[in-house]
Amino acid sequence: MTRILGIETSCDETSASVLEGAGDAVAMRSLVILSQDVHRVFGGVVPEIASRAHVTSIVPVVERALLDARLTARDLDAVAVTHAPGLVGALLVGVSFGKSFAFASGVPLVAVHHMEGHLFATSLEHPGAVPPFTALLISGGHTMLLDVPAWGDYRLLGATRDDAAGEAFDKVGKLLGLPYPGGPHVEKLAREGDPARFRFSAPMLRSNAAPGDDDYFDLSFSGLKTAVLNASRGADLARDRASLARGFQDALITALVEKTARAAVLHGRGRVVLGGGVACNRTLQDAMRARLAEEDAVLFAPSARLATDNAAMIARAGLFRFERGERAALDLNAYASLPLPGVIAA
Ligand code: KG4
Ligand code: ZN
Repeated sequence: MTRILGIETSCDETSASVLEGAGDAVAMRSLVILSQDVHRVFGGVVPEIASRAHVTSIVPVVERALLDARLTARDLDAVAVTHAPGLVGALLVGVSFGKSFAFASGVPLVAVHHMEGHLFATSLEHPGAVPPFTALLISGGHTMLLDVPAWGDYRLLGATRDDAAGEAFDKVGKLLGLPYPGGPHVEKLAREGDPARFRFSAPMLRSNAAPGDDDYFDLSFSGLKTAVLNASRGADLARDRASLARGFQDALITALVEKTARAAVLHGRGRVVLGGGVACNRTLQDAMRARLAEEDAVLFAPSARLATDNAAMIARAGLFRFERGERAALDLNAYASLPLPGVIAA
């Protein structure tokens, strides 16, 4: 059994978590997430403010995670830290802290790719969310459709060609005058909208597309965002806001659901796993679950706490890397972008 501390500082959450276990049998002993509310004022994450906020919170957040787990640094077998992708200044706070902590406590350091964390997150709540499966990772910065025959073995089927799914939610939220981040607000507002008022076509979805075509799995949201912007110009926002949100969300969900179903069918997967902040969208989860049922596939989706950025998912992916014998040296660096480890273009 391994006890591992996870640290996440890639964007605007300072988070630490302690997990213990082996293989896929893992228990969460603690999870602390400190969200930096300050960015709301600016309508988006301000990198330097994020870095400075991580500097002041990282020590108390880690101390709290150890306290909640009723453990001290001496009880740990490893420390895992997000080193990519993300805001470099923000990542460097976690990376530097992780190195110092590992050096001072004499425990090995493991580097974790943030998106591999999102891929593992759902398995902390759903024991069935383990490979082989089809995965759809939808966050503020990334949108990836993967076939996952085994942990660490990732076949990239499709990705967004422009904006990420969460980014599209946030931009449409801003356009509709909603607070940052827009995703949860757009989802709530869309419930009151009339689905027939604005119909946007689902992006990159041709019914005659065939496996092997470039656009069979790829996604795109920038055109949809522009269509919503254009429709909003001729609309009375006070009256049409909810219907614009509804039309946008319906089109985005249709594209995500269809492409994910195509991937599950083509690769014969009976399980589909969602990850990333957008994955906690209930409207998306319900539509995905219903569509996959037609293909005899089941959906595993994370709760909001584990869908959005958190250190438990980093500790979980770190445990996998640790068990494979991977260790980071004390010259570990942070990277704004980096391919998912073990990924091949399918
Ligand atoms: O994974 P995450 O916490 O951070 C990144 O790694 O980017 O994802 C944040 C994204 C934001 O764009 C946010 O608007 C979106 O997840 N999000 C949602 C919902 N909750 C969070 N999008 C749609 N519906 C939601 N309920
Ligand atoms: Zn994330």
